[in-house]
Amino acid sequence: MPDNIRSISAMEILDSRGNPTLRVWVTLDDGTIGSASVPSGASTGRFEAHELRDGDKSRYGGKGVLTAARNVSDVISPRLRGLDVSHQAEIDRAMIELDGTPNKSRLGANAIVGVSMAVARTAAIAAGQPLYRWLGGETACRLPVPMMNVINGGSHADNSLDFQEYMIVPHGAPSFAEALRYGVETFQALKAILKARGFRTAVGDEGGFAPDLDSNEAACALIVAAIRATGLRPGTDVAIALDPAASAFEIDGGYDLKRTKAGRKTSSEMTALYAGWLDSYPIVSLEDGLGDDDWAGFQAHTAALGNRVQIVGDDIFVTNTQFITRGIQEHSANAALIKLNQIGTVSETIEAIDMCRTAGWNYVISHRSGETEDPFIADFTVAMGGGQIKTGSLCRSERIAKYNRLLEIERELGLRGVFSSPFFK
Ligand code: PGA
Ligand code: ZN
Repeated sequence: MPDNIRSISAMEILDSRGNPTLRVWVTLDDGTIGSASVPSGASTGRFEAHELRDGDKSRYGGKGVLTAARNVSDVISPRLRGLDVSHQAEIDRAMIELDGTPNKSRLGANAIVGVSMAVARTAAIAAGQPLYRWLGGETACRLPVPMMNVINGGSHADNSLDFQEYMIVPHGAPSFAEALRYGVETFQALKAILKARGFRTAVGDEGGFAPDLDSNEAACALIVAAIRATGLRPGTDVAIALDPAASAFEIDGGYDLKRTKAGRKTSSEMTALYAGWLDSYPIVSLEDGLGDDDWAGFQAHTAALGNRVQIVGDDIFVTNTQFITRGIQEHSANAALIKLNQIGTVSETIEAIDMCRTAGWNYVISHRSGETEDPFIADFTVAMGGGQIKTGSLCRSERIAKYNRLLEIERELGLRGVFSSPFFK
């Protein structure tokens, strides 16, 4: 059978932070080869699938992934050999059973997700289809509105900001290509404003600027000024999305905004703070405004703000259907962030997305702060059709690779391509 798996191997490569990660290769009986590379987070949710690192301090400070690579070639490859590469769900299930742990800690979620993604890509090549069409079918023609992370703080930068991500959302553009231009022009305008005001323009892990601002709120005001400077309309053309990643500053059931010296806040005080920002800035999406174990807080937060803004759960749900089920039941959010390596297989990621769709929730396909040049999520986003991607700033090639791939897809789709805002304008 030409589409059967002959062998799978993995090698240790580097991610955008210079940390080891995996590239996985799948070879079919007819010689077809496909590969995929695995991203890695820094501000991870507590219940994410387990990223297996060697722990051998003599290499890469213990961060090597040679054990995970060996698990691919010595354990996973023999088990999957002979399976039809187009049977993604069967392949993913076989790996989950082979691993046997609830969080993929035996073989490593990095090993398993790498194989799962490489299987999808190889199946697409074997079928002679682009990946987005292979995974999404003929109807996959919606380009995403990007959330572009232009100011970095928190765990992604050594600066004065408690909040991790301030993103621009060019949802008023007529096409993806134009949205990208709106984003780039705003990013360049922001750079000029920062320079003119004496702030540094060095960038953080996701390519956004990492200035030492006096307050978390100041970043929103700067972004609005940048949007205006380009001649675009704040809110209508380009809106704002935030990911405070509040788990990182959650301490003893409260929130300590220590970098900006804004003091300790309760969960409801945090929600009140965001409510004030919604009055002042064109914010359309708020992710992880509270910590990943503050379920009661998230419920109150969504009740208070959910009709004004998209409330996205990232660390609290970790792309896991068990947590998303609870979130839907408790009205903890109205959207989920979707990261393939948080759960560890393509099939389980699609199950999480299906669950969001059924509940009427939005979903945002996301990169990790440690990325590679693999644009897998660009295709995956178009395949899933949710209309939103979060893939970093407008510089650094590991981020731009995804934008460039989306440009290609838009070009390929031609008149069939759809670009529409998931937000009110
Ligand atoms: P991470 O951050 O990839 O470092 O976990 C991204 C996010 O919090 O959305
Ligand atoms: Zn997040």
